[in-house]
Amino acid sequence: MPVSPSVSFHDGRSIPQLGYGVWQVENAVAADVVVQALEAGYRHVDTARGYNNEAGVGRALAAAGIDRDEVFVTSKVPNQDQGREKTLASFDATMEDLGLEELDLYLIHWPAPSKGLAVETWKALVELKEQGRIRSIGVSNFRVEDLEKLETETGVLPVLNQIELHPYFNQPELREFHASKNIVTESWSPLGQGGGELTDPVVQAIAAAHGASTAQVVIAWNLALGNVVIPKSVTPERIASNFASLELELTADEIAQITALHKGEEGRQGANPDSFANHQGA
Ligand SMILES: NC(=O)c1ccc[n+]([C@@H]2O[C@H](COP(=O)([O-])OP(=O)(O)OC[C@H]3O[C@@H](n4cnc5c(N)ncnc54)[C@H](OP(=O)(O)O)[C@@H]3O)[C@@H](O)[C@H]2O)c1
Repeated sequence: MPVSPSVSFHDGRSIPQLGYGVWQVENAVAADVVVQALEAGYRHVDTARGYNNEAGVGRALAAAGIDRDEVFVTSKVPNQDQGREKTLASFDATMEDLGLEELDLYLIHWPAPSKGLAVETWKALVELKEQGRIRSIGVSNFRVEDLEKLETETGVLPVLNQIELHPYFNQPELREFHASKNIVTESWSPLGQGGGELTDPVVQAIAAAHGASTAQVVIAWNLALGNVVIPKSVTPERIASNFASLELELTADEIAQITALHKGEEGRQGANPDSFANHQGA
C-alpha cells in the first residue's frame, strides 16, 4: 500500500498530500466509507460543519483504531457561523461531533464578502490556535483580495487555501499567488465532480499510455502540481484506486498537456466566491 507524501505548512506542521473528501456523503454512510478510506491507506479526511456528517466521521475515526496523530482531520466553519461568538460555538459543536480534543486544520469555508465577517472570523481561528485547540488554521475559497485583507488586518496568513481546482478550472492566478506567500494550494472537486475531465480525450490518451484510469491521471496531475488533493468517492473500488494514484508518475509533457485544458471561468463547476454566502456551504 502506498503512503501519501506530506506537504509542509509555513507554521512548521504538514499535511498528507492525498486525502479523502466527504461532501455529499450522508452521516450514516460517512461512518462506513471513512473506515474504508482509512483501510485503503488515506490518513487525511476533509469534512465541514456544513456537510452534516462530522458525527459519522467521528465514529469512523473511533472505530478505525488508528493512533490519533496518524490521521489528519480538517473541518470548516460554515458561512452562517461567521463572527467571533458563533465561530467559537460552531467549533465546539464540530469537536463534539468529531470526538476529538484537537483539530489538525480548521478553515473558514467561504469568504462570503457580503457578510464582511471574514477578518473577525479569522481572528477567532487565531485565538483557537493560540489555545492549542487547532493545530493549523487556513481558509477555503478565498480570493487574492481576501487573502491580502487577512494579511493586512491581522498579520497572520493561512497555511492553506482550499479552492476549486481541476483540469478545466486550474486556477493559475491563485496558485501563483499562493506560491509567492508560501500558502499551500488544496484542490476541491479535483475530479471535476466526476464530470467532463474524466472523459476528455487528452486525459484518456494519457490514461491509456499508463494503463491507468482517467481519475488516477487527474489525481496524479494534481499531485504533480504540488497541490493537496481530496477526491471523494463512496464506491469501494474507487476509494482504493484513487489512492493508488500515488504510484502513477506523469511526464512533464503530460502534466503540461493537462494544465493546458484550462477553460477559465467556463470551467468552473461550483459556486463563485464573489457572491456565495449561503448557509449551505459546499
Ligand atoms: N471547500 C469547499 O467549498 C468545497 C467544495 C466542494 C468540495 N469540497 C471538498 O472536496 C472534496 C472533493 O470534491 P467533490 O466531492 O466535489 O468532487 P470530486 O472529488 O471531484 O468528485 C466526486 C465525484 O466523482 C466520482 N468519482 C470518484 N472517484 C471516481 C473514479 N475513480 N472514477 C469515476 N468517478 C469517480 C464520485 O462518485 P462516487 O462517490 O459515486 O464514487 C463523485 O460523484 C469534497 O468531498 C469536499 O471534501 C470542498
